[in-house]
Amino acid sequence: MTTIERSLVLVKPDGYDRRLTGQVLARIEAKGYRIVALEVRTADRELLDEHYAEHIGKVWYNGLADFMSSGPLVAVVIEGHRCIEGFRSLAGATDPTKAAPGTIRGDFGRDWGTDAQPNIVHGSDGVESAAREIGLWFPHLS
Ligand code: RTP
Ligand code: MG
Repeated sequence: MTTIERSLVLVKPDGYDRRLTGQVLARIEAKGYRIVALEVRTADRELLDEHYAEHIGKVWYNGLADFMSSGPLVAVVIEGHRCIEGFRSLAGATDPTKAAPGTIRGDFGRDWGTDAQPNIVHGSDGVESAAREIGLWFPHLS
């Protein structure tokens, strides 16, 4: 038996700009997860430094922060048994060139020659990071 989980999903600025939001949400819903919060917003550096705290200092972090604040994104909270693992599976591997066809990153992502690796979506990677990220993006839900 598993407990109901929530996960933070972001349709990153590349996914939003390429009008892929609907297709990402359709895959989440087709899988059977419920959308419990959704908002279009533009992230500032302060929020991104908290969201990606584990990556600050990496050679590609500044490029990632520039990319993630380059335009609107869609922040979403999804819900369902094992949805954290389930969404990571829908998203596919981080590197969109290597992500398997059939996954969001594998079907819609590619290398654009940038150092930040735009890859359409973010998904929380564990129960603790999900709680932390949901508290950051949707304080009223935590
Ligand atoms: P995310 O946090 O966005 O869901 O992605 P992830 O867990 O699959 O990957 P993570 O290691 O947490 O990296 C966060 C994001 O940083 C960009 N990245 N670029 N140039 C690079 O080597 C590199 N490595 C990571 C990607 O946008 C990745 O999703
Ligand atoms: Mg990550």
